[in-house]
Amino acid sequence: MNNIKDSVINKIREAYPALKTIAEASCFEVPKNPEHGDTALPCFRFASVMKKAPSSIADELKKLFNGDPNFESVENISGYLNFKYSRKTFADFVISSLNSGAVYNNLKEKGSGKTMVIDYSSLNIAKEPHIGHLRSTIIGNSLYRIYDFLGWNVVRINHLGDWGTQFGKLIYAYKTWGNEKNLSSNPVRYLQELYVRFHSEEEKDPELSDKAREWFFKLENGNTEARSLWQRFKDYTIEGVKATYDRIGVSFDFYRGEGYYEDKARDIIKEVEASPVSRISDGALIIDLEDYGMPPCLVRKSDGASIYSTRDLAAAIDRHNEFNFDKMLYVTELKQQLHFHQVFKALELLGYGWISKAEHIGFGSILGISTRKGSVIYLEDIFDEAKSRVLDIMKDRDIADNEKEEIADKIGIGAVIFQDLSRSRVKNIEFDWERVLSFEGETGPYLQYSYVRIVNIIHKAGVPVNQETDYSLLSDDMTYELIKTMSYFENRITAAYNEHEPSVIAGYLLDLAKNFNRFYRVNRIIGEEPYAAEARIRLLIALEGIFRRCLQILNIPVIDKM
Ligand code: ARG
Repeated sequence: MNNIKDSVINKIREAYPALKTIAEASCFEVPKNPEHGDTALPCFRFASVMKKAPSSIADELKKLFNGDPNFESVENISGYLNFKYSRKTFADFVISSLNSGAVYNNLKEKGSGKTMVIDYSSLNIAKEPHIGHLRSTIIGNSLYRIYDFLGWNVVRINHLGDWGTQFGKLIYAYKTWGNEKNLSSNPVRYLQELYVRFHSEEEKDPELSDKAREWFFKLENGNTEARSLWQRFKDYTIEGVKATYDRIGVSFDFYRGEGYYEDKARDIIKEVEASPVSRISDGALIIDLEDYGMPPCLVRKSDGASIYSTRDLAAAIDRHNEFNFDKMLYVTELKQQLHFHQVFKALELLGYGWISKAEHIGFGSILGISTRKGSVIYLEDIFDEAKSRVLDIMKDRDIADNEKEEIADKIGIGAVIFQDLSRSRVKNIEFDWERVLSFEGETGPYLQYSYVRIVNIIHKAGVPVNQETDYSLLSDDMTYELIKTMSYFENRITAAYNEHEPSVIAGYLLDLAKNFNRFYRVNRIIGEEPYAAEARIRLLIALEGIFRRCLQILNIPVIDKM
């Protein structure tokens, strides 16, 4: 398809030999606004040779394309020569550049040689899991996939909440009431139960608070028993959540909890103490941020202990030293936005200018979610619930039981994920099982169903796909609309990336699905005249490629039967 661009360049070179060395097919850009055209030639490149303003150059070059059948229109828009292809040329362009992989390779170059660190999911051991962790997992994982798709080297870190006074409580509770068997069989829930039990017993016996403090003090000071219990709590928890992560296609390069940065937190405390930007307030070490409209960043408590923000200061520096990142993202609830802005500003004041590469990616809450098991939300409960509800819906389908289970799990996972990613991330989500799992409307199952349809048509058609394609057979209105939507792929992926908004891709998938279903209502393939069938199959092969990649980027399981 580069032929079209080559032919444009050849025409220009012939008419303006002086441009021979600077006019090339690689000069074309994708217009930011798709309405402006399919491709554009920036004329400022020619300004120094032609000694004219880009806009008059564009006007002049435009004349070369009067009556050219490849184009529906050629326009000068602010010094860019914008080309809108004729339907036939357009179909050829879109389908060929997808099926040859050119579009994907092009996108893959964006992040080449760059490193991004992403901190997401980041559960707390021994504290109630909450729905924010589900969203952080889903949104963070999709952002990872977007960057990965664009060729970035991505380092995924699960910054487990595994440090703090609550570990004193947990160690005490485990030593007093706990046992290994329960711990190993369901660590996340069991530690949570012990933690809850500690709090209710503490109400009756306030001395328990001192006991917990003692144990945390021991832990901080390297006491062997405390350390080894803490390590076991952590190992078991990681093992436990990994099973759920695996099930939903999530993984990490590092599980590096807050405890990992404990030594480094001591170093940063010393550094902050020595810095003129800090002061002591009521015995605590702080960095004033009043000039920036924020409360102070607390670095050390009056009892000498580090806190959440201390460990984030240390973690950021450590990650920068180790990965020399070009970008770092933290994916948490919007409620933590202030915390991150304080940490970023504190680091900037301490002279770490690279912190401008860090960004907090906040999101709203999910309202109204609950499972049959109760109100505390464990990740696996949500997916279990989704699966069992899908199985209810599918009970009459003629599919073998084990296969049905597997499919139901994937539909349930896709439904929950799509629900989460379908709206702009800062918005709150009203959760409603019935709507989330519906096979119609704007849902995950609807997308999976559309994908299954596309794949099945391609498989059933069985037409050869290696003869010359007559793209003029793809110019009816419905087909044109579908191809137009497909042509936005690069633009949509880039927008999702720039805005850190997977919802852009979710919306795009819905557009693709709707346009595909409309297209297929009026365009038959099986039993169709071979040239038309052939052209349509090529179109569907290109569509399948985009559709699958978008599903994968959102982490909605790709299935070929449902
Ligand atoms: N564990 C924290 C929580 O559940 C989230 C950690 C986010 N990452 C960070 N570097 N602070 O609230």
